Amino acid sequence: MQSNTKLKQGLTCWFTGLSGSGKSTVASAVAKELKEKYPDLKIEILDGDEIRENLCKDLSFSKEDRMTNIQRIAFLAGKISKHGVLVLVPVIAPYKEARDKARMLSENFCEVYVKASIEEVTKRDVKGLYKKALAGEIKNFTGISDPYEEPENPELLINTEKEDLSASVEK
Ligand code: ADX
Repeated sequence: MQSNTKLKQGLTCWFTGLSGSGKSTVASAVAKELKEKYPDLKIEILDGDEIRENLCKDLSFSKEDRMTNIQRIAFLAGKISKHGVLVLVPVIAPYKEARDKARMLSENFCEVYVKASIEEVTKRDVKGLYKKALAGEIKNFTGISDPYEEPENPELLINTEKEDLSASVEK
């Protein structure tokens, strides 16, 4: 975990991974733990589902719209983080190109790959979306009928199949 001084400079921490891999769970737990440890630290979470219900309601899951989604979120994260805020971003961001562009929009950026296999997330199916995607009821579903480009060099890799939540948060 970075020191408090470093965190206070502002940082965008992007949690990329398949739907159901645990991105939001880990990001929320990290926020909770850091808040307890450093009550003065400013933290914002930009969650994929929440952003799509508000800022990006107009966007679909086509490649073009996903690129736009990431660009908007990355722009916002950059604007917020420069004021000394730790911005946690649990958003799939399946394309490497979009993630690389996102990195350029924050002064301090770190990519966290929240890894879980497609078999595992399909089994978890927390939101029931994989069942629908496999039945063809949802088109362009990441990992089923749409690509997910795995990060090659993430700053941090969290394997939620092999580690429990506290181990991931500690990392
Ligand atoms: S991204 O690809 O543009 O980065 P984002 O993280 O904003 O995706 O949204 C993903 C969330 O939208 C998923 O967690 C899931 O709840 C929902 N969703 C609905 N349709 C799809 C789809 N076709 N592919 C992936 N996620 C989908």
